[in-house]
Amino acid sequence: MNISEEIKKRRTFGIISHPDAGKTTLTEKLLLYGGAIQEAGAVKSNKIKKSATSDFMEIERQRGISVATSVIAFTYKNKKINILDTPGHKDFAEDTFRTLTAVDSVIVVIDVSKGVEEQTEKLVEVCRMRNIPIIVFINKLDREGKDAFDLLDEVEKKLGLNVTPLSIPIGMGYDFRGIYNIWKQNIKLFKDEKKQMIGEKKIFNSIEDPVFKNIIGDEKHKTLIEELELIQGVYPHFNKQKFLESKIQPVFFGSALNNFGIEELLDCFIEIAPEPLPKFTNERTVKPEEKKFTGFVFKIHANMDPKHRDRLAFVKIVSGKFERNIPYLHVRQDKKIKFSSPNAFFAEKKEIIDVSFPGDIVGLHDTGNFKIGDTLTSGEKLQFKGIPSFSPEYFRYINNEDPMKAKQLSKGINQLMDEGVAQLFNINFNGRKVIGTVGALQYEVIQYRLLHEYGAKCSFENLKVHKACWIEGDVKSNSYKEFIRIKQKFLAKDKDDNLVFLADSAFSLQMTIEKYDTLKFHFTSEF
Ligand code: G4P
Repeated sequence: MNISEEIKKRRTFGIISHPDAGKTTLTEKLLLYGGAIQEAGAVKSNKIKKSATSDFMEIERQRGISVATSVIAFTYKNKKINILDTPGHKDFAEDTFRTLTAVDSVIVVIDVSKGVEEQTEKLVEVCRMRNIPIIVFINKLDREGKDAFDLLDEVEKKLGLNVTPLSIPIGMGYDFRGIYNIWKQNIKLFKDEKKQMIGEKKIFNSIEDPVFKNIIGDEKHKTLIEELELIQGVYPHFNKQKFLESKIQPVFFGSALNNFGIEELLDCFIEIAPEPLPKFTNERTVKPEEKKFTGFVFKIHANMDPKHRDRLAFVKIVSGKFERNIPYLHVRQDKKIKFSSPNAFFAEKKEIIDVSFPGDIVGLHDTGNFKIGDTLTSGEKLQFKGIPSFSPEYFRYINNEDPMKAKQLSKGINQLMDEGVAQLFNINFNGRKVIGTVGALQYEVIQYRLLHEYGAKCSFENLKVHKACWIEGDVKSNSYKEFIRIKQKFLAKDKDDNLVFLADSAFSLQMTIEKYDTLKFHFTSEF
């Protein structure tokens, strides 16, 4: 098979949701269809339960499991499907944002009774910013929930999407009887009270099929016809091109737990989801079918073995063919590195591979060479764009609690920051280090890991910061100079030495933005 055939086969996507909407269950059912696992329950949930915020073992367990489930690949109808796992826990949201730089499309899972939840809103916003094609899956139809049309409305309003249903439920909750598949124009009913199983299908090709009418009864039949008319009248027709351009988002209904509506979703997904897409670098756009290899690191995972401190860097292949034992250019460090045991991921296992193609993810053993966002190429000096940092929500000074271990602490902090665990800011006027995170749980992870992996003891001290803004402006201008002088107490440098303003309140931020209107205040590190 040549490269372009390999590219056409691949679909790399992520599943995002608010915790508990059913992401893990859906992943598992997709794997069952791909024949990658044989029984339900094989994919372990990688979520940290809310109650576990102080449980270090739970954090460690989570890290272990999420290595195994970071990428799950399987084959379905001759397509190679790569699912990139995203942590559901909000304290790990930054990890999810970064993973979204490596997907070509996403499936958003929504719980029918809860509707659009907070975490879903944030994640979808990031997808929209990046124009990632989105498919919506409304889950748990076996439970009583919101009316399908109200929910479609809510999805449009809260998520800012332009939806078009490609399936519609027949009944809901106790009364949930099946799915009308608008995409394929057929109907699938639950076989019996025990719900649908793979391989036991009851499909009708016409809504007027007398057996179908008889099973669901006149009232449901009438409702279904009315609903289909409503859909035709109100929602735009599905158009693949518009979907790929992120102008329209198809919606499916089902129940992941009962394996209902999943096959419809998967069959449509492999037809409409994009194959690996071109990606921007600072220099030019790289197309997947280019002969020469390029890729970028979107995730780094510390190994479970603290004695060896080796890590796995996850690289998304953007173009060409990645081969084992071939030297590639690590652009930031300007040096060639060979990888003797690159890992590929299949179902829950990882194994050493010889070649990988665009869309695939390879796991490279790393002893500290990589940072999130690093580019690897066959020799060209390129830097892929699009792994920005967002303003953290929490800011704390980090203090060294053991003067003998200052070196270890500094090394540990740097390595954890390279992994993207949190963001480091160096305060200009007092030289102190501030760690910024998206969730409070991160501080426990950092403290624990610094101690256990680097032997360094630290403590944290709250710092009142409302938001971090990256500053852009003419350094020679008077207003820039004045800003630096007046706001010196609130200025820091990020890991790449960019100037960051740590505003202590929404009010002071607003006042500062108004006063220094020749400067630009950015809310992400990439602009
Ligand atoms: P997450 O990864 O998005 O956090 O969600 P997960 O799949 O773990 O699902 C959260 C809970 O919702 C699980 O129950 C799961 O069984 C249930 N669930 C998923 N899909 C459906 C569905 O279609 N219908 C119904 N009724 N429930 C569904 P749990 O009790 O938290 O965990 P477990 O003990 O069942 O594993």
